[in-house]
Amino acid sequence: MASNNSDKLWGGRFSQGSHELTDLYNESISFDQRLYKEDIAGSKAHANMLAASKIISEEDRDLILNGLTEIEHEIDEGEFDFRIDREDIHLNIEAKLTERIGEAGGRLHTGRSRNDQIATDMRLFVRAACDATVDALIDLREVLLALAESEAETIMPGYTHMQRAQPVLLSHHLQAYESMLVRDTERFEQARNRTNRSPLGTGALAGVSFDIDREATARELGFDEVIPNSIDAVSDRDFVYDYHSAAALLMVHISRLSEEIILWATSEFQFITLDERFSTGSSIMPQKKNPDLAELARGKSARVIGNLVQILTLLKSQPLAYNKDMQEDKEPLFDSVDTVLATLQVLSAMLPTCQFNREAMALSAEANFALATDYADYLTKKGVPFRQAHAAVGALVAQCESQGISLKELTLDQLKAAHDEFDEDALQIDLNYSLSARNASGGTAPDTVASALNEAKKRLRQDRQAWTTLQK
Ligand code: ARG
Repeated sequence: MASNNSDKLWGGRFSQGSHELTDLYNESISFDQRLYKEDIAGSKAHANMLAASKIISEEDRDLILNGLTEIEHEIDEGEFDFRIDREDIHLNIEAKLTERIGEAGGRLHTGRSRNDQIATDMRLFVRAACDATVDALIDLREVLLALAESEAETIMPGYTHMQRAQPVLLSHHLQAYESMLVRDTERFEQARNRTNRSPLGTGALAGVSFDIDREATARELGFDEVIPNSIDAVSDRDFVYDYHSAAALLMVHISRLSEEIILWATSEFQFITLDERFSTGSSIMPQKKNPDLAELARGKSARVIGNLVQILTLLKSQPLAYNKDMQEDKEPLFDSVDTVLATLQVLSAMLPTCQFNREAMALSAEANFALATDYADYLTKKGVPFRQAHAAVGALVAQCESQGISLKELTLDQLKAAHDEFDEDALQIDLNYSLSARNASGGTAPDTVASALNEAKKRLRQDRQAWTTLQK
């Protein structure tokens, strides 16, 4: 139904009502109602500042603050009637406030525009989203490190080109994923820092003509500083990009982990058994037990990457300063925040329930000549140039392959025939020999992995503590 423009807060210069399609297409209240707490916090800070700067009276301020508190409560309770003809969260709240407290409500928008208002709301939202994401990331890191600890002795094949390459400790492999999440934590912290600056008090784009105190509103809202340029303040959505960018790379990391969970749960690999509580069945094949959650985590990375492309495309070529295009920044952001948080939560719950089939992993770690490098390193340590050693062991591998045996089954004579530097002690080369040998910094030797785990746990504790303090 067409709405009457004279009822609208911006309706003064209009003599005709809106076409029904205008209201429907123009509105954002159907989704930006999610910002009501941020919007009300911003309005309260603004009202406090207006009164402290003697721009409005203390009586009006109190009416405004109480009215806003009541409105927030009403929205909390699901009793607020969001109206599409009132377009967005700002106008819905302001119109309701004025209905409720009269003229004082009409003074709230003094020295403010919806353009600095929405920029403020969005920054408060993204800041909270970064906080929640880092919390969830730290939880998942803790889960990974706990697994790395309980699987401290589990040996698995390490892969390159998806071919068995060299044995590694599962703990080492899991810590590699934790390292990715450490960098993700840093990225969200950096995103938070760039987000936490106040655009409030810059008006529509040019600044305001009242003697306002931007520092005061910034302080009340917990911002670190004010954004100096008013045109930049209302037109910048780089902080939305920053969230998307950190989120997209995080989901790429999650998709790599998910892919391995899916592979490892196949009958081909049989490295892990998924807990039934985190698996699903098939409606046609009675025997199926599917890793749907890991597949969805892998799949959901697509939408988060898509949302990153969306914000870049949205911002590209927009002239200064505010344009209504910006309204399109919200739904993809909400979608990415929800997706990332849900995914982190699911993985944190699911991973500890995965059963690692230690025997199958160790068997597979030794198969396919995975210790060949150790034979070559053995010769090299006896002074043989590495390239010669590589060739000699390569010939042994070919010989074993044609006889259908493993390197371990070769006799000392056979070894010596390939290279006369092979001695008795070469017969001791096995999985543990291979792992312990890789004790240079960053390697998979059990002692090295154990001290890396201690370092990782220390860093996790520090991150958790620093983060909790920052949020206070
Ligand atoms: N709903 C708008 C947005 O999300 C709020 C700001 C509108 N400002 C304006 N001058 N129309 O961007």
